[in-house]
Amino acid sequence: MLQRIQPETLDVIRTRTSVRDYATTPIDDTLFEQMITSLLAAPTASNAQAWQFVAVRNPGRVEIVRAFSPGIIGIPPLIMVACIDHRRTKRAPGEASEKLADTAKLCVAMAVENLLLAAHALGLGGCPVGSFRGPVVQKLLNLPAEIEPVLVVPIGHPAQTPVPSKRRESSEVINFEDWRPDTATA
Ligand SMILES: Cc1cc2nc3c(=O)[nH]c(=O)nc-3n(C[C@H](O)[C@H](O)[C@H](O)COP(=O)(O)O)c2cc1C
Repeated sequence: MLQRIQPETLDVIRTRTSVRDYATTPIDDTLFEQMITSLLAAPTASNAQAWQFVAVRNPGRVEIVRAFSPGIIGIPPLIMVACIDHRRTKRAPGEASEKLADTAKLCVAMAVENLLLAAHALGLGGCPVGSFRGPVVQKLLNLPAEIEPVLVVPIGHPAQTPVPSKRRESSEVINFEDWRPDTATA
């Protein structure tokens, strides 16, 4: 099993960072397909896959989504709009799925992280963006009421070489066996 671990996979995880400026180069279809495969491989509560994604690639539509997304800085060739699919979070008769509504946002977030890691592994970069006007984007993209956008994710070729952001020391945030108030400071 150990032989199958590829150190470059860990490097991808360690070096991912948010990319907010993009070159004008379009995203090749083969790269796009690989990102989608990774996105869809994310863990999901009860394997409900209660998500939907809208890939916005038309430059005019990218501009419109950007206009209502203050968190998107540069002009990306692609914006993935990541949504909860509330049609798949409802309790079906005889099924214990009432918790799905609570966990659906977590599942979408996990899919977005897969997407961002795949983008980084492929030499692209992106940023999860929560600062956007949900109801407006919902209307612009013709999303029905049960499809709720929770993140917009601009992706493109980085305009500059990305530099990973700083992280807190592991000693500040990792507790062993139980809570350690003296070390785990806010
Ligand atoms: C839920 C969520 C929402 C975010 N929203 C925004 C945003 O609106 N605008 C933005 O520039 N970055 C946004 N970010 C990116 C964070 O600022 C970024 O992940 C953080 O500063 C750590 O930097 P890194 O991603 O480079 O490691 C968001 C990240 C998360 C997880």
